[in-house]
Parts: sequence; C-alpha cells; structure tokens
Amino acid sequence: MKRLMILISGGGSNMQAVIDACESAKLNAEVVAVVSSNANALGIERAAKKGVDTYVFINKEDRDRKILAIAKEKNVDYIVLAGYLGIITPLLIDAYKNKIINIHPSLLPKHGGKGMYGIKVHESVINSGDSISGATVHFVNEGIDEGSIILQRETDVLDGDSLEDLQKRVLEIEHELLIEALQKIL
Ligand code: GRF
Repeated sequence: MKRLMILISGGGSNMQAVIDACESAKLNAEVVAVVSSNANALGIERAAKKGVDTYVFINKEDRDRKILAIAKEKNVDYIVLAGYLGIITPLLIDAYKNKIINIHPSLLPKHGGKGMYGIKVHESVINSGDSISGATVHFVNEGIDEGSIILQRETDVLDGDSLEDLQKRVLEIEHELLIEALQKIL
C-alpha cells in the first residue's frame, strides 16, 4: 500500500478527496502525513479528524528540510500538493524525483505560473475569453506549474459565469481528477 504525504495551505477539499478515496479503497494508498504552510488552514482540522498526523511549517526557511525528514521517517512514497502555496525547492524535488504531484485549476500550460493560484486562475480564464477551462494534475519540477502533465479534464466556461461559479465547477473536477491521476501513477 503506497504511503502519501499531502501538502496544503487552505481548505483541503482536494486532500479530503484523497483521504476519502483511501478509506473507500478507491485508492490503494494511505495518507500518513499532512503538512500545512498556514496555521489557519481548515484542512488541518479535516486531516486531524481522520486521525492523520498534521504539521504546520509557516516559516519557509528550511521548511523542505523538515518536510523531507518527516517524509523519510514515515516512508512516504509520494507527495501530493493540494492547494499548497509554498514553492518546492530542489532539496525535495531531488529526493522525490517524479514522486511529487500537483493539482492546478486550469488547463496548463494556460493560466499557470508564478502568482497563478486560487481565484486568480479563474479570473485569468474569464478575462482571456476562453470558452473552456478545467484542471490539470502534473509532476512537480523546478518550475512553477511546468512539470509533465499526468491528466487533464475540461469544463465549459459559461456566459455569465462569475469567478466563483467557475471555481466551483473546476473544483468538482479537481476532486475526481486527483484520484484518477493517483490511481494512474500508484
Ligand atoms: C484548488 O483550486 C486547487 O486546485 C488550488 O487551490 C485550491 C485549493 O483547494 N491549487 P483545496 O484547499 O484543496 O480545497
């Protein structure tokens, strides 16, 4: 059974989807640690409720060294970035080559890169006039949102969509896509 560490910074709904998929055996895996870069992330409570060990590292100084120490101690196989706003450094990337994945709420390479996270992604999509958007799961490399793509899924951008309408529609896709991507690589 593969052992997963999930990195979060916010609500943790993608993290919750992974934990639920493990519990229902949709995924032959176990979430053994959740690390947040934000002490107020609601995902911390969600993880703790499921009995998952949680850690908070706000200061980015040597954060990845601490994350790596926990990953090694817990024999983590894959690291999943789920709404994580920290930047992964080469220390972690080299230790977990092609074993770190990220979910991004657009059809990369469009609407990705530095500063493109959360609602800003959907704002960029709507402002660009694109008629479709979606979600992407990709391997993490030294770039931001640039690693090789594992899976993508599209959804329509509807006339009159608010940023929140689009965000909600894409988030529903993210929850399914993340599980399918993990099933594919585990
Ligand atoms: C999601 O849109 C995710 O794609 C993006 O940040 C948001 C976080 O959602 N990276 P959650 O914390 O998993 O609910």
